[in-house]
Amino acid sequence: MGCSSSFFLTFSLLIAVLSVSYGQPLVPALFIFGDSVVDAGNNNNIKTIVKANFPPYGRDFMNHIPTGRFCNGKLASDFTAENLGFTSYPPAYVNLKTKGKNLLNGTNFASGASGYYEPTAKLYHAIPLSQQLENYRECQNILAEVAGQSNASSIISGAIHLISSGNSDFLQNYYINPLLYKVYTADQFSDILLRAYSSFIQKLYAMGARRIGVTTLPPMGCLPAAITLFGFESNQCVERINNDAINFNKKLNSTSQSLQKQLPNLNLVVLDIYQPLYQLVSKPSDNGFFEARKACCGTGLLETSILCNRKSIGTCANATEYVFWDSFHPSEAANKILADNLLAAGLSLIS
Ligand SMILES: *[C@@H]1O[C@H](CO)[C@@H](O)[C@H](O)[C@H]1NC(C)=O
Ligand SMILES: *[C@@H]1O[C@H](CO)[C@@H](O)[C@H](O)[C@H]1NC(C)=O
Ligand SMILES: *[C@@H]1O[C@H](CO)[C@@H](O)[C@H](O)[C@H]1NC(C)=O
Ligand SMILES: *[C@@H]1O[C@H](CO)[C@@H](O)[C@H](O)[C@H]1NC(C)=O
Repeated sequence: MGCSSSFFLTFSLLIAVLSVSYGQPLVPALFIFGDSVVDAGNNNNIKTIVKANFPPYGRDFMNHIPTGRFCNGKLASDFTAENLGFTSYPPAYVNLKTKGKNLLNGTNFASGASGYYEPTAKLYHAIPLSQQLENYRECQNILAEVAGQSNASSIISGAIHLISSGNSDFLQNYYINPLLYKVYTADQFSDILLRAYSSFIQKLYAMGARRIGVTTLPPMGCLPAAITLFGFESNQCVERINNDAINFNKKLNSTSQSLQKQLPNLNLVVLDIYQPLYQLVSKPSDNGFFEARKACCGTGLLETSILCNRKSIGTCANATEYVFWDSFHPSEAANKILADNLLAAGLSLIS
């Protein structure tokens, strides 16, 4: 990490500490959209097989409860909520029994196996981004009822909107779906995704969002499942797949820059998780990790969701030195490092 970025990191952590000590979060609310990287339990009670609400998921979370997070503990977005000064995490929207005041600090609409490309979610019976937006619309109406229209509007315009998407479009759809990979190059598929992204941001903006952070794709070719499936017996990150992520991320940057120009008063920040995760994978021991190839759950080569369960053989006893919890998702320890990087990059969202 360069000198200036560690300065900003220290600076933003300082702000976070100050805000926490005054008991007031830095922003009025946090709204979360996207896929399993940030899903906090929306898939628990819907008709999908992409779930994580059973052990060993959640074994290092508060009270060791599997909440539906695809992790042993906290997600990067949970650490982000803490860093912003919240004392609780945005709850999964579809699981809230009595919504009302519970929504005042924000909520989480994300659904594992959804993507920018609407058919990805349909394939897995997950909640597509279009429906996540409809849920947000309903949430906004509830906010107006509980807090009054003008308070609701300022909550919405001051809130951070965090989006993580695109992972499932590639890993759970494009690479395994001949109807896609035979028809489109990865570059063409990226363009399709970015058109959907652009339209999503414009709709969010039209609904009053002014502070939006979007995460890049991770080094998808370094995820244990990708190496197992596409690595041809090699133990190295799959370069072709990482290159697809790098290419997508560049386009995400330029698309975001043009959205930022086009939409007055929009603060749209691209939050890079590629570099920090790549660093962890290529130099695990520099960051206190010893295992970056195999995930903790099961054999660590392919297990995720229903394949990572109480009966999986080989699950590690302690995930703190593993970069990956399951074959698609970082461990809590890695998420902590990712969140610290997001905070540094997202400083402009809170100033
Ligand atoms: C909102 O966040 C503040 C600060 O963390 C907390 O005191 C309050 O209880 C939260 N409200 C809800 C409804 O979660
Ligand atoms: C708006 O928020 C303020 C401060 O929290 C509160 O006093 C006021 O009652 C709210 N307005 C409505 C219509 O609920
Ligand atoms: C995106 O843009 C930022 C600056 O605007 C730059 O620092 C970053 O490296 C870019 N990322 C990619 C993937 O091009
Ligand atoms: C896991 O190991 C870390 C140190 O490597 C230790 O601090 C932690 O308590 C251990 N957790 C469990 C659940 O044993």
